[in-house]
Amino acid sequence: MASPPDTSKTTKLERYNSYIRKVNSTKLIAASSKLLFRVTLLVALLLIFFFTINYPPLTSEKTFNNNIHTTTHNLLSSTIYGGGASWEKQVRHSSTPHRPNGLSVLVTGAAGFVGSHCSLALKKRGDGVLGLDNFNSYYDPSLKRARQDQLTKHQIFIVEGDINDTELLKKLFDIVPFTHILHLAAQAGVRYAMQNPLSYVNSNVAGFVNLLEIAKAADPQPAIVWASSSSVYGLNTKVPFSEDHRTDQPASLYAATKKAGEAIAHTYNHIYGLSLTGLRFFTVYGPWGRPDMAYFFFTKDMIQGKSINVYVTQDDREVARDFTYIDDIVKGCVGALDTAEKSTGSGGKKRGPAQLRVYNLGNTSPVSVKKLVAILENLLNLKAKKNVIKMPRNGDVPFTHANVSLALRDFGYKPTTDLSSGLRKFVKWYVSYYGIQPRVKKANEGEK
Ligand SMILES: NC(=O)c1ccc[n+]([C@@H]2O[C@H](COP(=O)([O-])OP(=O)(O)OC[C@H]3O[C@@H](n4cnc5c(N)ncnc54)[C@H](O)[C@@H]3O)[C@@H](O)[C@H]2O)c1
Repeated sequence: MASPPDTSKTTKLERYNSYIRKVNSTKLIAASSKLLFRVTLLVALLLIFFFTINYPPLTSEKTFNNNIHTTTHNLLSSTIYGGGASWEKQVRHSSTPHRPNGLSVLVTGAAGFVGSHCSLALKKRGDGVLGLDNFNSYYDPSLKRARQDQLTKHQIFIVEGDINDTELLKKLFDIVPFTHILHLAAQAGVRYAMQNPLSYVNSNVAGFVNLLEIAKAADPQPAIVWASSSSVYGLNTKVPFSEDHRTDQPASLYAATKKAGEAIAHTYNHIYGLSLTGLRFFTVYGPWGRPDMAYFFFTKDMIQGKSINVYVTQDDREVARDFTYIDDIVKGCVGALDTAEKSTGSGGKKRGPAQLRVYNLGNTSPVSVKKLVAILENLLNLKAKKNVIKMPRNGDVPFTHANVSLALRDFGYKPTTDLSSGLRKFVKWYVSYYGIQPRVKKANEGEK
């Protein structure tokens, strides 16, 4: 009988092979998990990179404005409005002058009170006008939309966007070689600065710088006329206020941002040769006015039978303002545009000295708030319920009075509307716009 085959060697070999297989598969698992880890890391890094370049910074405009009233988003506005051919056509058409040597003006804040009036005046005489406004809700945006409707009727297009939107501004300057910018977009109002201070820095400082950066790089560089404010005189007590009086004691953050604007204007003029004219408006009023201003909300409250707060100073003196009618302000803005010299830089480089100006635009005759109320009582044919109280320390100044001799000398600025006549026009607009009862209309019957 044959002896059974010796299997001990085969078994050993099989055990050895199975050991090797195990080792190999463990190595394979380790290697593939390493590969998986690296691929995941790479994908994560790619995603982070993608999100960083495509998403807005954390300090997006909305956050910066404390989420209170801005509706436009930088990326959004340029994406929506910056592309289409029909949008570009509207931009071009609106900006094209219709008279020989007409101006081509970018009006920022065109849906605002002063901006809408100036845009219409320029368009009516044949200049090209393109508006820019973010339609924020600092006050009722439906009033801004109604002003926009008026402008649309006169072929003026308002681009809905923010002056902080660099891409949008670049796009506008790529399409149109603007000769001028009338820069009126700003966070206005003295008292609101205590509630939302950053909105003032965002629009009046950062937004202004952004606009100047675009203007400095444009070729040709436009000449810029922009709205400063009588509030820069702050605690100055010398009257009437002249351009060479001190402006280093602002009484509100609003005033401080306007004063900052004047300093910034000096810098851009000095370094880049931008032609810059700052206009210090004194309490502008009139039809299509601003609902946050006293003459406006006094009218509203008086009609509604509500009481109004009439301020006196801490030492019981009357508070007075150099109320200036909108048509006079418009003439001043147009005069400043017409006498603005060309900027001297190109491609961001200064080629020679450029014009730098600051003017008061006021009415030259201050009227007390008490008198303002008396005029409104007469026009509205009713008696106001007045609370006479001391002016709170919220940034308001007790008195303003403009000396306008510089503006008279340089572009013939001469205000012609007194407060009674101007308020009569305002009340007429107010009752018609808000559809108020005949009793008020009766009081305005004498008017032409
Ligand atoms: N009305 C006055 O009595 C008076 C007095 C002194 C100075 N000013 C200045 O005159 C200018 C015009 O004032 P107004 O009374 O017409 O005010 P307004 O508020 O009616 O107009 C300003 C417009 O600018 C827009 N705007 C604000 N921030 C913007 C931004 N970041 N980007 C784009 N648009 C923006 C607003 O939506 C508004 O339509 C302002 O610069 C204001 O500070 C006005």
